[in-house]
Amino acid sequence: MRRLAYHLLTALLLALAGLASAQNRDARLPGSAFMGADTQAMQRDDSQNPGMLWVKGGASLWTQAAGASGKSCAACHDLHGQGEPAMKGVAARYPAFDSASKLPVNLQQRINLCREKQQKAPPWKLESEDLLSLEAFIALQSRGMPAAPPKDARLEPFAERGQARYFQRLGQLNLSCAQCHDARAGLHLGSAPIPQAHPGGYPVYRLEWQGMGSLQRRLRNCLSGVRAANWPLGATELVELELYLSRRGAGMALEAPGVRP
Ligand code: HEC
Ligand code: HEC
Repeated sequence: MRRLAYHLLTALLLALAGLASAQNRDARLPGSAFMGADTQAMQRDDSQNPGMLWVKGGASLWTQAAGASGKSCAACHDLHGQGEPAMKGVAARYPAFDSASKLPVNLQQRINLCREKQQKAPPWKLESEDLLSLEAFIALQSRGMPAAPPKDARLEPFAERGQARYFQRLGQLNLSCAQCHDARAGLHLGSAPIPQAHPGGYPVYRLEWQGMGSLQRRLRNCLSGVRAANWPLGATELVELELYLSRRGAGMALEAPGVRP
């Protein structure tokens, strides 16, 4: 009897230890965790979240026929023909590999591929209001789902380059992404708290921008912050960074459209 009690106690202690270490293991926090309570509330409440205006715009583009095909996105991506977009979980697995170009593409680029090849319409400018709207509309379908970057061997070399770039010192300030976002997360740079740089809130409405912006826009901001040579929107170097960030944030709940100060 005493032996049984001993075993039960050991089992209980082991279970508790397992629980504690599971909590310790994941010290990752979304960008929203570093914001003030006002901004957090704005993100949480759809009636206050300005990003929802872009989602609305995206919903209306979704059903508009366009291009030589005369088809809307909905014409091909409607779940059971019930007016429900078949896009649940899609944003969670981008960037993904595009076999035609043999390059990783982010969600904006993926939308543009359909725009050109399926709708047969001229592609949108990256970071245009139309593309941000559709990106926000599609990202919303994955809100609350865990980020699930694809396990695709063809992505490996790109993800590795993204990782190397994350740890490489850049620009006149000679700082790496990791020096701020791993070593100094939670501290402040001027008045801005340094977040852990997880991508799950993007695209975000940023009060400072007075508008919506993609993860690439954010990365370009950080690159100019350290006075580094910058890559243009859509550059593979930026997609590679996105790819590494998506793996680093794998499993974290998606929050788009996020709000940022
Ligand atoms: C000098 C420190 C510094 C460096 C170096 C830096 N960042 Fe940042 N980063 C910041 C700060 C501060 C913010 C928050 C900005 C704000 O709120 O104004 C930020 C924001 C971000 C965000 C947005 C997170 C969110 O939830 O909104 C991402 C992603 C990010 N950085 C990635 C990177 C990457 C990738 C690099 C390297 C190419 C990099 N940063 C380099 C300081 C830095
Ligand atoms: C004529 C049919 C057609 C139209 C119109 C169309 N698509 Fe697609 N779309 C496809 C097909 C087929 C695929 C998957 C095959 C491929 O092209 O790789 C796809 C794939 C996608 C994906 C990737 C899904 C995934 O699981 O990774 C996204 C995102 C997407 N489409 C968005 C859009 C948007 C946004 C529009 C409107 C601007 C649109 N599509 C218009 C046929 C279409």
